Amino acid sequence: MTTVRIPAMVDPHTHLRDLDWAHKATFASETAAAVAGGYWAVFDMPNTPPTTTSRAALDLKLARMGETAVCDWGVYFGASQADNTAEYAHVAGTCGLKIFNNSTTGDLLIADQSQREQHYAAWDAARIIAVHAEDETVLDVLALVRQFRKRTHFLHISTAQEIAWLRAAKEEGLPITIGVCPHHLWLTQDDLPALGAFGIMKPGLKTARDRDALWDALQTGVVDVVESDHAPHTLAEKASERPPYGVPGLETTLPLLLTAVHEGRLALERVIDLVAHNPRRIWWLDAPPDTYARVDLDAEYVIDRARLHSACGWSPFEGLRVRGRVIETWIRGVQVYDGERVLAQPGFGRNLFA
Ligand code: DOR
Ligand code: ZN
Repeated sequence: MTTVRIPAMVDPHTHLRDLDWAHKATFASETAAAVAGGYWAVFDMPNTPPTTTSRAALDLKLARMGETAVCDWGVYFGASQADNTAEYAHVAGTCGLKIFNNSTTGDLLIADQSQREQHYAAWDAARIIAVHAEDETVLDVLALVRQFRKRTHFLHISTAQEIAWLRAAKEEGLPITIGVCPHHLWLTQDDLPALGAFGIMKPGLKTARDRDALWDALQTGVVDVVESDHAPHTLAEKASERPPYGVPGLETTLPLLLTAVHEGRLALERVIDLVAHNPRRIWWLDAPPDTYARVDLDAEYVIDRARLHSACGWSPFEGLRVRGRVIETWIRGVQVYDGERVLAQPGFGRNLFA
């Protein structure tokens, strides 16, 4: 057995649900999935009702997270179409602003460029702006970054064209970073017939050419972060006539990346950059002492929903053979996962942006 420690992993892109969507998942269940996935910390998106677009909604989420999370955490504030920029003066405790520039789960879409501009102008540059932007919308957001010079993280980038635009924007010196998701790295449109609703998410699955461009950008350092976009929906919802967008990913991201190491497609150091060093650098976080995932690089197994901790009970990667297993997770000197069971008590997790 070859084991290594991966220091203080952060997933800056998760939808943990709870609150009015506790039937899908809870902060307790999904932070348990996070520590089983090896994570120190996860950041939660604002599109779960009540949307995190007011001080009151933020306080509610901070309190519930504080009482129930088993890993460390951050929460995003959300830009809302009903202008909520007056609230931006009171967003202490958040890891950043999320702007949904294209439609997806929830109703936080900001499609109008002048509205986007108002949000960019109002947000305090000390905290990062994380954006959902697909296709040409990437160019619209880059125009705002150029105008306001506010640090912006492009979430779940999925096409060769988007990568080309963002690579050029980095060369131009714009203060941007790029995240990609495992489902866009391991799956394509060709998998849709087999996956059905389990292959439906935003941005959607793309072509093999797009996937290859993402891999190239991972290997060459254009991509900064691999983030799961963990978005649990129930089996019943996914089986319905109009299945909602989103797939879980917290427990499969690291095993998939370690499999890529085994296959010689990524260096282990690069994986550690993508899931730990870079997100900590981008969000200005220091790794606390004795905080790491211990992984067995040799463990070979098939991804099996029965072993996952997420409340949703399914995975788009079900049946995939991987190599690399999280056997322990430690946070601030406390063992929170032993390879099977989550050991931390609810409320153990801390807000990293308090
Ligand atoms: O597939 C997605 N699901 N993409 C998003 O942007 C939101 C997420 C969700 O909340 O379900
Ligand atoms: Zn998302």
